[in-house]
Amino acid sequence: MAGNPFSDASSPTRVIAVSSGKGGVGKSSVTVNLAIALALAGNRVGLLDADVYGFSVPAMLGLSGEPVTGEGGVSPLTAFGLSVMSMGFFVPDDQPVIWRGPMLHKALEQFLVDVDWGAPDFLVVDMPPGTGDVALSMSQYLPASEVYVVTTPQPAAKRVAQRSAYMARKLNLPLRGVIENMSWFSAPDGTRYEIFGQGGGAQLAEELGVPLLGQIPLVAAIREGGDAGRPVVAEAPSSEAAAAFRQVADRIVGLGRTRVFRSELRVN
Ligand SMILES: Nc1ncnc2c1ncn2[C@@H]1O[C@H](COP(=O)(O)OP(=O)(O)OP(=O)(O)O)[C@@H](O)[C@H]1O
Ligand SMILES: [Mg+2]
Repeated sequence: MAGNPFSDASSPTRVIAVSSGKGGVGKSSVTVNLAIALALAGNRVGLLDADVYGFSVPAMLGLSGEPVTGEGGVSPLTAFGLSVMSMGFFVPDDQPVIWRGPMLHKALEQFLVDVDWGAPDFLVVDMPPGTGDVALSMSQYLPASEVYVVTTPQPAAKRVAQRSAYMARKLNLPLRGVIENMSWFSAPDGTRYEIFGQGGGAQLAEELGVPLLGQIPLVAAIREGGDAGRPVVAEAPSSEAAAAFRQVADRIVGLGRTRVFRSELRVN
């Protein structure tokens, strides 16, 4: 069996793990739009939906159907220039995933080992919530992952920071930046309403000692685009929201790779 290409120190791929300290903050929306922004900037991008229980990436990209197996392995589905793999491609509509931990572990391994990813510049990963089995498996299979935390502007930063820092430490992965989502709503007259409060992203970034990479506005087009499988970055490139996602993508490119590679955690 071939090894997992992403666990090799010579892998050209930067693994961008998008996580959050709590649910519903827009982690999947950010993952999808960030991945497309990276692709639009000329990068080859894979998108791995590692949220195996709560997958939402297929719907957000308008993807359905089962991937086919070719000579180089299982071919990811493609949309908006991304190569995509998700548990959602393998379970019937609306059926819950009720697999036990070891089966999920195996499925994730296959997503990395048996899938023909090519050698993308970025693998953007919609991480499962928390520090459960799946998150631990992912960190073992993707030992060079860089963790980015999505948060909302509520000043609950301290708790989220503690949880995120705890997670990164437990997974032994570097935290590299914070992305604030739902930062404000811009009325047609240009007035900004900070519906979910303000300052949460900046505070969290400060607590964690990493940069705040961007603030994504609260806009109907993000929700609608997610529901319709037409992500805002691709559908409305001149919008405020698309510009915010592109800024985050540019800044992640600018950060460059993490220097430390943890060979001790390598899993083949
Ligand atoms: N900036 C935004 N503006 C408007 N709607 C948004 C924004 N970000 C996310 N949403 C909407 O909020 C809902 C939750 O977002 P999403 O599914 O991306 O969150 P999540 O953190 O991945 O959730 P879960 O924890 O369930 O995986 C979705 O309906 C999404 O379309
Ligand atoms: Mg999600």
